[in-house]
Amino acid sequence: AADGTLPKLEMEFTVSSKKLQKMVRHMVNEMRKGLEADGHMLKMIPSYVVTRPQGDEVGQYLALDLGGSNFRVCMIELRGQGQTAIRQAKHVVSDELKTGSGEQLFDFFATCIGDFLKSLGMDTREKRSLGFTFSFPVSQNAINHGELMQWNKGFSASGVLHKDVVVLLNKALTKANINIHVTALVNDTVGTLVSHAYRDPQTYVGVILGTGTNAAYVERMSAIPKWTGDKNIAEMVINTEWGAYDEESILPITSYDNALDRASSNPRLQIFEKMISGMYLGEIVRYVLIDLISTGELFRGNSTPKIQTPYAFDTAYMSRIERDHSLELSDTKAVLENLLDVHNTTVQDRRIVKHVCELIGIRAARLSAAGVAAIVTKMKRLDACTVAIDGSVFEHYPHFANRMRDALRELLGIMAENIVLEQARDGSGQGAALIAALHTK
Ligand code: BG6
Ligand code: GLC
Repeated sequence: AADGTLPKLEMEFTVSSKKLQKMVRHMVNEMRKGLEADGHMLKMIPSYVVTRPQGDEVGQYLALDLGGSNFRVCMIELRGQGQTAIRQAKHVVSDELKTGSGEQLFDFFATCIGDFLKSLGMDTREKRSLGFTFSFPVSQNAINHGELMQWNKGFSASGVLHKDVVVLLNKALTKANINIHVTALVNDTVGTLVSHAYRDPQTYVGVILGTGTNAAYVERMSAIPKWTGDKNIAEMVINTEWGAYDEESILPITSYDNALDRASSNPRLQIFEKMISGMYLGEIVRYVLIDLISTGELFRGNSTPKIQTPYAFDTAYMSRIERDHSLELSDTKAVLENLLDVHNTTVQDRRIVKHVCELIGIRAARLSAAGVAAIVTKMKRLDACTVAIDGSVFEHYPHFANRMRDALRELLGIMAENIVLEQARDGSGQGAALIAALHTK
């Protein structure tokens, strides 16, 4: 029906070129403000990473990588000429660890490092350097020191907020008798940028589109008025923390976004992230489906306990549904039946579900593209720039990259051809190792 919820959804979730353009201008301005002083919407955190690799760095480094869907311990061998070899152990961080005590969390890291070294037949008492990728907003005061400003992405471990996370890690390592020196503390966006630059020197931006979202880029020191440190530096990687962008007059925030935000563990924070990243996309879909069920426009008004359960609709389901091009939408049917306990759906029901996924998936890609456009505009690098992008959403969500490219074309016209969006697969742990290498030189 023309007066139903569907046409309204269409309007609410569609972001016009004009709106995106406005957003780019506003974001560039917010980036400037964040570089001028602390306390603004965009934190624009100086990373203390002042050189990008030349590709000739060599040596063996350990890395810890926390903050996405996995926690990893890596041993990275830099072989020069952009060549590397990695051995790693992946772990899932349980909800208990995410929300328990910080001490337990850091003890867990130390245990994982110890086990990993032993599995490689290495002595834990031998002195080694480690790069720590810690993917949360950290106010850095040195390349290997920084305090956690806020938890997000479902983490809330106690006793970590406003503490130096390197000190906490060192404490846990000492307790576990492991002789490791943390030489670099880096955000995943910074690690992604640096590891990609090891191969492609045109890389000036690192983006994460995964559990959370964020971007880092290379800025001229003269454009960072708030920097009071060493004046003899030419450029520095800046961690924008763009996930915190929340301009209500510009972002197409719907009642569903608001409901999600209110029920989240960090209400009113990370609004941009909540419209884009993998932790939340499925949850937005779930809110919309519940609304459509309540008006009787979907599943003949029948709900299931599963669908009423927060975060039951995984973003991975959206990927499956968007990838379903069968006439009867049979895989969508399978997702609904097997994963959400919704039975007896009609093809029309499934078309609606798929359409909702598309609306929310497209909006996320377009907003991400606006972020990228803002950064390359700010850098004035519209002539040539590689943007290294990592994370489960960019990697696994169908059409995400192409939708971003389409939006970039709308925003930058012909110049969009100069902006290369590249899937980064190296893992930011490798970047952390490189930064550790650059800073122990
Ligand atoms: C990994 C990086 O490849 O991607 C991590 O090594 C990063 O540092 C992660 O946090 C982001 O993706 P996701 O989907 O796991 O959040
Ligand atoms: C969150 C964190 C940010 C990180 C991003 C991607 O937005 O605040 O530091 O880079 O998630 O993991």
